[in-house]
Amino acid sequence: MKGIILAGGAGTRLYPCTISVSKQLLPIYDKPLIYYPLSMLLLAKIRDILIISTPRDIEDYKRLLGDGSRIGVHFEYAVQETPRGLADAFIVGEQFIGNDSVCLVLGDNVFYGAAMSEILAQAKDSIKNGGAAIFGCFMKNPQDFGVVEFDENKKVVSIEEKPKKPKSNYAVPGLYFYDNDVIRIAKSVQPSARGEIEISSVNEAYMNRNQLHVTLMGRGVSWFDTGSPKGMHKASGFVKTLQEMQGFYISCIEEIAWRKKLIDDEQLKKCGEELKQTDYGKYLLSLLNNEEESG
Ligand code: G1P
Repeated sequence: MKGIILAGGAGTRLYPCTISVSKQLLPIYDKPLIYYPLSMLLLAKIRDILIISTPRDIEDYKRLLGDGSRIGVHFEYAVQETPRGLADAFIVGEQFIGNDSVCLVLGDNVFYGAAMSEILAQAKDSIKNGGAAIFGCFMKNPQDFGVVEFDENKKVVSIEEKPKKPKSNYAVPGLYFYDNDVIRIAKSVQPSARGEIEISSVNEAYMNRNQLHVTLMGRGVSWFDTGSPKGMHKASGFVKTLQEMQGFYISCIEEIAWRKKLIDDEQLKKCGEELKQTDYGKYLLSLLNNEEESG
């Protein structure tokens, strides 16, 4: 399975912070926002990852993440010339995806939960024989997202993009698993009123074929939308509090790579040395002296 991180957009809701910098490079507490969705792909054991951004920002991502060898993965980069919608990721990424299945994660979505690895493994497994897998999260403001509605048998009966009158409280977070058909489906999707090819239309196409798996993330998972200063602040506070309380870092890509054995002790040490002026670097080095499992 391939992975795509979509880190485009103008980030206008975060102006002036994003006038000259891509939103997904801004910090959520002590690391760039993009580390959080990237860590989801690492937890899903996805090693081939395409990063899509704007012509202005793509070089910044290359500077930050390089070719991926530092954390034992392979990064490629592609430019989305204009923000044509989330489903455009599969058109921009067509060659990269090849004949494979694909997981798309939005560069501004932050997830946290002890069960994340298992949730991701199950979603991946559920599309082994084709179809799509998405998630639902109970939200107080579902109208700001894609919304899924279920019938009494928990079957999905509708998906709407930012409906004025949401039919349920279940918002669809920016983490999606698809079979290879997604490329063809994305190409056939008609632009919405806001002129974008919506990911909700892609999901609707899978729903109409009876091939859409929806898993509710439940209370054990926290999902943050970081589209506004308040959202960023909330996510930052959450990360800071948990890291300080538990001593384990959230979405620390080097740690995940090391625990998943993508890099060895030597490579982790090198990563730690590079950043040793910071608590982040010191944390990486401390892992080598403290073998206990983080859970
Ligand atoms: C996008 C999707 C929406 C989804 C959300 C998750 O909205 O269109 O369906 O619920 O991401 O973050 P956007 O944030 O691009 O407006």
